[in-house]
Amino acid sequence: MIMVDCPAKTFIVEGLSMNLEPRSAIAHPNIAFIKYWGNIDSSLRLPANGSISMTLAALETKTTVEFSENLLSDHVVINGAEAKGQSYSRVTQHLDRIRTLSGLNTMAKVTSQSNFPLSTGLASSASGFAALTLAASKAADLELTLKDLSILARKGSGSACRSIFGGFVEWYASKNDADSYAEQIMDQSYWNLIDVIAIVQEDQKEVSSTSGHAAAESSPLQNGRVQDAVRRLNDCRQAILDRNFNKLALIVESDSNMMHSVMLTSNPPILYWEAATITIMRNIVNWRGEGLEVCYTIDAGPNVHCICTAESALEIEKRLRKLSGVQRILKSRVGGIARVI
Ligand code: DP6
Repeated sequence: MIMVDCPAKTFIVEGLSMNLEPRSAIAHPNIAFIKYWGNIDSSLRLPANGSISMTLAALETKTTVEFSENLLSDHVVINGAEAKGQSYSRVTQHLDRIRTLSGLNTMAKVTSQSNFPLSTGLASSASGFAALTLAASKAADLELTLKDLSILARKGSGSACRSIFGGFVEWYASKNDADSYAEQIMDQSYWNLIDVIAIVQEDQKEVSSTSGHAAAESSPLQNGRVQDAVRRLNDCRQAILDRNFNKLALIVESDSNMMHSVMLTSNPPILYWEAATITIMRNIVNWRGEGLEVCYTIDAGPNVHCICTAESALEIEKRLRKLSGVQRILKSRVGGIARVI
């Protein structure tokens, strides 16, 4: 038996035992300015179009992973509850990807905690799979580049590939696995935008993003949305680079409306909005008309992300609180990179 001793771990190379340290990582969710909706390859999560997002500082998921010989199967706890069904199998499939890359064949214990409601269109799968990718790859002793991490996170949840990075982030569409990854456009200090999130419903959504992506192709509008994506990506990227809020506002709202038009015209149709969602959308447009720098964008859920400049944020929050149906407000600055802790 050969024993190799490193500071943090003991490998018994020819024996049975291999103990690796638990590793923890924190990642933030992101709000898409140009949305990912629909895949050309759903098993690899190769998106139909590129997307751009802003990482959210105030929201985070912390995940700890420990590979251990003492486990007979993977054990997954999310926000204090044992994961079952689909959410369990998505995590174990992701651990399998990491086992394949590292050559490990031990099972893992995964504990994940988010400080915001899950599965309500607040991109919990983005921060969840970004944190899982980072923690599990470190726990398996893999040294991956940011690009590798982004590609790997993408396979767990598409939007997670953007949550590897902080600031303003673009995910490139490609037919090839190796070319579909995210990169930072500008870091979080470049533009002090705030996401004021109006929570109108905290219940878990009825249609998951994953089934929504699968239905996207059935909408006759999806092709037009995808064909026009390069124009929207260019406009959005340029608006960020120029810190041009009005230009950003128009393209962000238009892109969100396009995605929801595809959802509404899919087979079966998907309607994520509640009455309060529409009330907020109308008000946001009116408030912008009055000179406040704000625009709305809505992911796969009824809650409204009100993107605004730091100067407008307090006034927007005050006005949102007065609208009927707004249950709670979350506020976030632009967040940083996913990190090991
Ligand atoms: C509406 O990344 O959650 O938030 O790959 O199936 O996990 P899966 O989907 P997911 O889809 C996010 C969709 C969106 C838009 C976006 O974030 O770009």
